[in-house]
Amino acid sequence: MTQDELKQAVARAAIDYVVDGEIIGVGTGSTANFFIDELGKIKHRIKGAVASSEATAARLRGHGIDVLDLNDVDAISVYVDGADEINATGAMIKGGGAALTREKIVASVSGKFVCIADGSKLVETLGKFPLPVEVVPMAANAVSRKLVALGGQPRLRTKAGSTDAFVTDNGGYILDVAGLSITDPVGLESEINQIVGVIAVGLFARRGADVCLLGTGDGVKKLT
Ligand code: 5RP
Repeated sequence: MTQDELKQAVARAAIDYVVDGEIIGVGTGSTANFFIDELGKIKHRIKGAVASSEATAARLRGHGIDVLDLNDVDAISVYVDGADEINATGAMIKGGGAALTREKIVASVSGKFVCIADGSKLVETLGKFPLPVEVVPMAANAVSRKLVALGGQPRLRTKAGSTDAFVTDNGGYILDVAGLSITDPVGLESEINQIVGVIAVGLFARRGADVCLLGTGDGVKKLT
């Protein structure tokens, strides 16, 4: 199976977690896009969705799914999203698609986080994938110095084919931090959260995945 077929298989499996008549939280990225396409087929069963990015909101609307402002929503039963890396306890690195801050916000108000990923995302120790950190633009260099002190090698994310900084949906910049071997994900998440100028860190450990559906050659496996 190709990587896309594995992503499609987990996206299809995640539909079993959708709660009828409720509002669903939807992540960002290629795996989440496959999920949105599946959700489009059962859109009559849900009340609407809260999106974790402008791109996701546009795709949901393209399927005729109502996109709600989080400020108008009291509760979200389930949040479905991909990951760049996940470990056996459900701690993740996210933000490869630059949506980490809104992903974290929507996940934080959701009853259950269902992570959908192809099997290549499962790792023993998080950190091979550079850790995305969203920062207030004026603080990019100041935060970079603190991240170097923590043992990382931060690099400002740039727009494809340009040296201009990539700007997120929130007006932030992203530092991609290489060289970290994250043996204490909860501790590192807390430490990076304390750095002034950080909007959000792409470590989802304090609130990790409750369920992880992994796409493998032997079918979809449930990790946690
Ligand atoms: C976006 C994310 C994505 O979930 C992550 O990058 C995985 O993406 P994909 O499903 O395309 O592999 O965190 O900010």
